[in-house]
Amino acid sequence: MSDDVAKAVAGARAATLVEDGMLLGLGTGTTVEHFLVALAARHLDVAGVPTSRATAARCAELGIRLLDPADVDRLDLVVDGADELTRDLVLTKGGGGALLREKVVATMGQRFVVIATVDKLVPRLGDTFAVPVEVVPFALHPVRRELEAEGLEVTVRPGDGGPLLTDNGNVILDVRLAGGLADPERTDVWLTMLPGVVTSGVFVDLASEALLGRSDGSVEVLSRPGR
Ligand code: A5P
Repeated sequence: MSDDVAKAVAGARAATLVEDGMLLGLGTGTTVEHFLVALAARHLDVAGVPTSRATAARCAELGIRLLDPADVDRLDLVVDGADELTRDLVLTKGGGGALLREKVVATMGQRFVVIATVDKLVPRLGDTFAVPVEVVPFALHPVRRELEAEGLEVTVRPGDGGPLLTDNGNVILDVRLAGGLADPERTDVWLTMLPGVVTSGVFVDLASEALLGRSDGSVEVLSRPGR
């Protein structure tokens, strides 16, 4: 319940950043749900690129106009959740399986605001959360073997009666790195270079701010100079 208050205040605060006419990136997850509801309640003339089918469906219910990435060059504001983040605004994402579209949309944003509960702030990424890696199905076993040969613990994300399929028809490997990510950028580049890997859930140099909700209703704001 208190977690829900923390998510709600972060989502509501992000909705206050939206101005009439803005083009938005619309993230995925339970914190974003609060943002979408608060946004819809403002009845602004905005439109957004959804990061998942689930978000697209929710926007349709709430009356938020949708855009295709083909129809827009830059987004004024992207709002999305995170699974873990550090104070320098490096994130892990993909707990909901939407990491690929989330990364594409984050890259399109002029400003990328992360909304999360304050307990997602960690000293080092990967401490509590395995890194999701999206892989084309053909490469699932070769990539898995490659990662295990490096001593990493790898789990195929389960779905209904087999591996979970993402909105892009791919599978997800959840990869646990002992001791966490010492160098997130290097880990992201290394994972992404493996043939068959589409993207990793490590988001480096993308977020400009984070709004971290607390169960007492307050919001901690983190921002990255120069973004
Ligand atoms: C979706 O794939 C994720 O990246 C979510 O944005 C992330 O898991 C945060 O979700 P919650 O807001 O539900 O914790």
